[in-house]
Amino acid sequence: MPDGVACRLRHTLSPGDLVTRDRPACRVSLGEMLRWVEDSDAAALLRIYAPVVEHTAVSFEFEPPSVSEMRDRVRAVRAAARPWLVFERDGVLVGYSYASSFRARPAYQWIAEVAVYVDPGARGHGVARALYTAVLRGLEWQGYRSAIGVITMPNAASVALHQSLGFEPVGVIAGAGQKFDTWHDIAIWQKTLAPLDTRPAPKASAEVCRGAAWKKFLNQTAARVAPT
Ligand SMILES: CC(C)(COP(=O)(O)OP(=O)(O)OC[C@H]1O[C@@H](n2cnc3c(N)ncnc32)[C@H](O)[C@@H]1OP(=O)(O)O)[C@@H](O)C(=O)NCCC(=O)NCCS
Repeated sequence: MPDGVACRLRHTLSPGDLVTRDRPACRVSLGEMLRWVEDSDAAALLRIYAPVVEHTAVSFEFEPPSVSEMRDRVRAVRAAARPWLVFERDGVLVGYSYASSFRARPAYQWIAEVAVYVDPGARGHGVARALYTAVLRGLEWQGYRSAIGVITMPNAASVALHQSLGFEPVGVIAGAGQKFDTWHDIAIWQKTLAPLDTRPAPKASAEVCRGAAWKKFLNQTAARVAPT
């Protein structure tokens, strides 16, 4: 049986087994695990995001948004034609990643800020890598020149993720926010997606995701996934 097929079967039989480190990797197509977000995902997104707000300074929000606010955020990203992808394992949403405006003024239109959140039970298995890879590729195809990650420090996992995906540290803003009585620096990480030559405005993500190239990318590009 070809490796890819065997891997897919194992993945189907035991989808809780995504692992990237210290185990032999096999390859499962992103198209099997990733899809574009829908309004109806709001509660599942919040199940992942709310504990991050409540228990960490990763997010500078003090209170988790409501389900309807989360739905509005999904709609806003879609209305702005930026990618928002979710990762499903065994029919359960275990991670998501999206791109948002870095700053609002029009000259910033070629740069996007990206974020990724993974359910604690699914971390360490390549879920964030798969999501980020796909969102970054989508931005690249849309014509964005740079992606920016903003990391509340300390966050070793996020730093390692950004480093691993080719982001470079470009600066730190000291004491950018205070949460749980502690001042936090934020580190800005940048990944160049395309040269700064011409300047056509980014295309709508709908245009990109309807395109054959995007489907081919999701179906052929493999995340590093291994059975237990
Ligand atoms: C940061 C986060 C998204 C990583 O998700 P994940 O699915 O566990 O990450 P992955 O398994 O895809 O790992 C991606 C890379 O990051 C590294 N990494 C992830 N977690 C790590 C950790 N705890 N320590 C060291 N490295 C880590 C991995 O080594 C991997 O690199 P490699 O592929 O070169 O080996 C996840 O921990 C999370 O959701 N944290 C809370 C929210 C958050 O901090 N989001 C980022 C905001 S900018």
